[in-house]
Amino acid sequence: MAILVTGGVGFIGSHTVVELQNAGYDVVILDNLCNASPKVIDRIEAITGKKAPFYKVDIRDRKGLEEIFAKEKIDSCIHFAGLKAVGESVQKPLEYYDNNISGTLTLLEVMRENGCKNIIFSSSATVYGDPAFVPITEECPKGVCTNPYGWTKSMLEQIMTDMQKADPEWNVVLLRYFNPIGAHKSGTMGENPNGIPNNLMPYITQVAVGIREELGVFGNDYDTPDGTGVRDYIHVVDLALGHVKALKKIEENAGLSIYNLGTGQGYSVLEVVHNFEEASGVKIPYSIRPRREGDIATCYADASKAKAELGWEAQYGIKEMCEDSWRWQKNNPNGYDE
Ligand code: NAD
Ligand code: UD1
Repeated sequence: MAILVTGGVGFIGSHTVVELQNAGYDVVILDNLCNASPKVIDRIEAITGKKAPFYKVDIRDRKGLEEIFAKEKIDSCIHFAGLKAVGESVQKPLEYYDNNISGTLTLLEVMRENGCKNIIFSSSATVYGDPAFVPITEECPKGVCTNPYGWTKSMLEQIMTDMQKADPEWNVVLLRYFNPIGAHKSGTMGENPNGIPNNLMPYITQVAVGIREELGVFGNDYDTPDGTGVRDYIHVVDLALGHVKALKKIEENAGLSIYNLGTGQGYSVLEVVHNFEEASGVKIPYSIRPRREGDIATCYADASKAKAELGWEAQYGIKEMCEDSWRWQKNNPNGYDE
């Protein structure tokens, strides 16, 4: 039996495919390549020495999905496929709702038709909105999202919760990621943003490699120790390993489970800059800019539930996250483009 990984050519999906294969699972990869390079498939194979069947299929394409289920023996699905650019989602809400919500509904229907009722879903700490308290436990109430991307995560969580309640044969694991950064230790796989990066670490690495002049720090007047935003950065390989552990809940027929995947440790923007400078030996020029709309001051996880129930805990600290992000960017200044 195999695990279907949707969005398996993307940043988190590709690292998860590697860890699944390392753990001995058979993997089938689906991706429409709208935000990924096909070169990733060769890089995965170079790392693990295993070839996974790859299907260039859109999750909204019912026929394409049915063909995969007819051909492969799929037992469970890890569902990463989705659009994720916050700003773009504000400009193109219908495209985001169609891709993320309609796509997931089609995927769930085809899974059900084929008797495959096990899913692990990529959710986000964004569902907590401006969190009622930190560190954020899974009991923290979901909040008001500030953009359509965030709403797609919040709504899909609700949809899958209702689905599991109506049909307890489903096993659903909702994983709420904090801020994934870092890259594979080999330096051959990492984050590959299109255009100007929205997120902090890819912006820093592009400054370091000379693609951008300086980092804009979005606000230094937050209620945090140095005034800049505090986040819970997590190494993408730790995140990938969290998915392997989450399969345990599927194997136990646990019904609905929700876990935060973070380290439990918050770092400010300036702390990340300083850690990166130390790890890379490269100075990162920056200037303070106005706050970015929709940003919150502080967000970090209480990750003790995942530790207690999944036996999962992040192994890598900020130093390794910076070293690995830097190795990837330095070896591949243009990402997967030549
Ligand atoms: P990514 O863009 O690198 O990966 C997503 C992949 O899905 C891409 O390869 C893309 O080509 C594919 N895809 C998109 N729409 C598709 C469709 N309709 N059909 C088939 N394939 C499709 O993003 P990522 O950072 O690896 O994120 C993976 C998942 O985790 C996403 O659902 C994202 O929303 C979620 N997430 C990411 C973060 C983050 O900071 N990176 C944080 C929280 C949650
Ligand atoms: C953002 C998204 C969130 C999404 C997550 C992962 C917003 C409002 N939130 O989270 O929905 O789930 O990415 O994709 O976009 N920063 C700078 N300069 C930069 C970039 C970022 O100072 O050039 C700061 C931000 O203000 C923040 C921190 O760095 O304090 C982290 O930002 P980012 O990496 O974009 O992640 P989030 O804002 O946490």
